[in-house]
Amino acid sequence: MTSTDTTASHTFTIRRPDDWHLHLRDGVMLEAVVADSARQFGRAIIMPNLTPPVTTAAQAEAYKLRIEAALAKAGVEEGAFTPLMTLYLTDNTPADEIARAADSGIVHGVKLYPAGATTNSDAGVTDLLGKCAGALEAMQKLGMPLLVHGEVNDPTVDVFDREAVFIERVMIPLRQRYPELKVVFEHLTTRDGVEYVRQAEGPIAATITPQHLLYNRNALFVGGIRPHWYCLPVLKRETHRQALLEAATSGNKRFFLGTDSAPHTRGSKEQSCGCAGCYTAFHAIGLYATAFETAGRLDALEAFASKNGPEFYGLPINEGTLTLQRSPTRIPDEVPVGDTTIVPLAAGEELRWQVVQSA
Ligand code: DOR
Ligand code: ZN
Repeated sequence: MTSTDTTASHTFTIRRPDDWHLHLRDGVMLEAVVADSARQFGRAIIMPNLTPPVTTAAQAEAYKLRIEAALAKAGVEEGAFTPLMTLYLTDNTPADEIARAADSGIVHGVKLYPAGATTNSDAGVTDLLGKCAGALEAMQKLGMPLLVHGEVNDPTVDVFDREAVFIERVMIPLRQRYPELKVVFEHLTTRDGVEYVRQAEGPIAATITPQHLLYNRNALFVGGIRPHWYCLPVLKRETHRQALLEAATSGNKRFFLGTDSAPHTRGSKEQSCGCAGCYTAFHAIGLYATAFETAGRLDALEAFASKNGPEFYGLPINEGTLTLQRSPTRIPDEVPVGDTTIVPLAAGEELRWQVVQSA
């Protein structure tokens, strides 16, 4: 990181970062959101939870072409942003589909959604160790990472405990059976998760979202119910936020940036049963910089945002750079999508850090 500190402003430059967990959707929504990510990030791991989900290498290839068409339409220079595709694991994913995905060169992970755990997860896995042995063996053999939504979907388990229970019921047995399988514990939200990822043996890492670094669960109820702070896994207590911030800023290579930016239209979040997901792609790196600044660790942002992720995925770090400046601006109330809108996280509030140069 290079840094200049003047009385008027503070700027710093990092290697171009990547987003290791991103929902881009499809169609009009894809076209509306893709340039927000491309402005800040060189690459992103693209989540496969479309309707229907992306379950084959051929579907991932077709989705990648749609993303590239949307990038071109949004005026993003060719090659400036690379979508790293994923497959959606089902009870029936065959081992040879994993082989095709590995051969494709464009698929970089396979996503585990426990059935029913979150948005568009109905086709997800009902019994990982019982039903997915063939796919998991192939993934372990081929070095294909398993990207895990780490929550049990058991209605008898309190929603705030679902990550901790997942570690005991699924993560530990999975990694005992497949010790060489590369695993990314996505959108980690608890101190229990941080401790598990820190001490576990073998190839494991975790992504952390900006909302889980900046907010605790009180943010859901400030003066009334706040649907734009609702995501899954849900925000947790302050002690968990502190553990996540400590992990993200510690320099430990197992923790890296994954926004989980999950756009939903305003109407689909502001209703009697609103969708889970925070839209953060618009201002992601500014949100992370704000969180790192509160910990006094802006110097640790580059490793978290630009280096630890590529190292885990076995990819080179980006060539380009991104320069941020401490110049507060107001987060817009909404971002247009066709004839509707998306409300970004913390809409209307002040954002301290801006991207001022991308090279
Ligand atoms: O809040 C979330 N939104 N969590 C997820 O796991 C899925 C995502 C979505 O696709 O909207
Ligand atoms: Zn997600």
